[in-house]
Amino acid sequence: MNREDLKNLIKTAMQAREKAFAPYSKFKVGAAVQTKDGKIYTGCNIESATYGATACAERVAIWKAVSEGETEFTHLAVVADTEILTPPCGICRQIIWEFCGDVPVTFSNLQGKTETLQMSELLPRAFDTKFLK
Ligand code: THU
Repeated sequence: MNREDLKNLIKTAMQAREKAFAPYSKFKVGAAVQTKDGKIYTGCNIESATYGATACAERVAIWKAVSEGETEFTHLAVVADTEILTPPCGICRQIIWEFCGDVPVTFSNLQGKTETLQMSELLPRAFDTKFLK
């Protein structure tokens, strides 16, 4: 992905973050996942009063895309308002790996600090469908 496309993906995740429903944690997260065809699907965290049923921004973005029939992804961006950049949680790492594979994941904050890591760095030796065969 070129610099302009990445900037746009981050900006889209940042805008999605504004829709976060996070009355309990007050911690807003936005995500944007790009498909092979260049389409972008966004997500924000949506919290539940049970806390445990909360959905993270990354999974919301991926579920939205998968539910529209998307199967191939090229990049995921995550935005939160933290000095130390917020990476995906453990459950999201598993889902990103299973649905997006070894894609680059870019974390950003609102000041424009960014870092990109591959999913294979974020989730080494992942368990996935190949073990079930
Ligand atoms: N959260 C995300 O949406 N993505 C992450 O990568 C980390 C955590 C959300 C879940 C919850 O709504 C809030 O942030 C605090 O954990």
